[in-house]
Amino acid sequence: MMTRPEMIRVAGGTRLYGEVPVLGAKNAALKHMVAAMLAPGDHVLENVPSIADVATMGEVRAYAGATCRRDGTRLHIAVPEHPRPEAPLELVRKMRASILILGALLSRCGEARVALPGGDDFGSRPIDMHLDGLRDMGASFELKHGVLRAYAPDGLHGTEIYLEFPSVGATENLLLAAAMATGTTVISNAAREPELTDLAMYLNKMGAKIEGAGTSTITVHGVGSLASATHRVVPDRLEAGTYALAGAISGGEVRVLDCVPDHLRMELRKMEVAGCEVTFGADWIHVVGPDRPAPVDFATLPYPGFHTDMHPQMVAFLALADGTSIITENVYAARFRYVGELNRMGADISTDGQHVVVRGTDRLSGCEVDGCDIRAAAALVLAGLVAEGETCVVHAEHIDRGDAGYVEKMSALGARINRS
Ligand code: EPU
Repeated sequence: MMTRPEMIRVAGGTRLYGEVPVLGAKNAALKHMVAAMLAPGDHVLENVPSIADVATMGEVRAYAGATCRRDGTRLHIAVPEHPRPEAPLELVRKMRASILILGALLSRCGEARVALPGGDDFGSRPIDMHLDGLRDMGASFELKHGVLRAYAPDGLHGTEIYLEFPSVGATENLLLAAAMATGTTVISNAAREPELTDLAMYLNKMGAKIEGAGTSTITVHGVGSLASATHRVVPDRLEAGTYALAGAISGGEVRVLDCVPDHLRMELRKMEVAGCEVTFGADWIHVVGPDRPAPVDFATLPYPGFHTDMHPQMVAFLALADGTSIITENVYAARFRYVGELNRMGADISTDGQHVVVRGTDRLSGCEVDGCDIRAAAALVLAGLVAEGETCVVHAEHIDRGDAGYVEKMSALGARINRS
């Protein structure tokens, strides 16, 4: 039976005011759940958002034999002595991040069978760097009937790995594999994302010896075993940035709480250039939106560059700018499906596949639009906040994959928004 797509309806024209707290980062919590597989026993993750992707990762790990129990924002994870080294297609298809279980299972079990993830709306998204690195550490692979079979019967060994691009997932998979490998692994041109640094902190609490996380060279001295641990997940900078932009686009005033402003340096700088008044403290950001944004150019880049997952939301903001902005997408081959949807609302945006030219307009008008991925759906809701009339974002279930309580939090800030 076809399930009806979720819809979010938002009526434009209300300025948002107030405070909004954020929870732990999806893109950290998911990796931490995989990392827990490296040590049998009872782990506790704190500040975990109640989102669909966390539930899916729970299923991936349940398949491997680990159980999860949620108690508010705490996740209690029980990991068995002998996990089942497998992740099936129906789960990997639901969420590409399932591929991260490869390094952990190989390390724990000496083998793994993980269905190969396909492409998605952002392009083909290969995993060649994950596999090349694991191969250098002694793993071998065989692809049969869509399932990747990985073997390392003699265990994994440390080596020097140079990534051709600072891939977040490849760095994380290799980190998970290297934590208990024999000898030392050095990952050069490693990703520097805060979520990855947080993963290394959790692994170190479990007894790993990882140095240099947050820099381009990470050194992992393999240890014989790891022990269960408790860890608080780093705040979600994408959730924080999206609420900051919600305040900005509506011309209102929003204070985002429980976040790390330093993790959004580039994004906040660009918002200031666009005319926002931005102030921040240790764990809050206060944004006052302009009457009309000034145009801004930006290019997405790995951290600490402008985050690709803030790109659609920022474009929604700039769609209303007094002038033309040029955006260059450097992380994904295809991240532009939302452009056509914004244009349906009256935006004037064109793209050649890598660049987006946003000619600012002074008004958008609400209509039905397709929220084709988490960030696109969030961006279309932002546009709906200022569009004339009602905007109906279909496939809004994507938002639930990454953002806990988006509609409720927007509503608490004064947005006229509901689900149907
Ligand atoms: N890439 C390769 N080969 C590889 C690995 C990556 O060509 O072996 C390419 C990808 O195709 C992509 C680029 O490198 O074009 C960057 O991919 P990366 O591996 O850095 O991203 P990821 O680990 O697959 C994570 C987040 C994404 C986020 C990116 C970039 C998770 C679960 N996902 O993906 O988050 O956009 O890093 O920061 O952590 C989201 O949350 O909405 C989301 C898509």
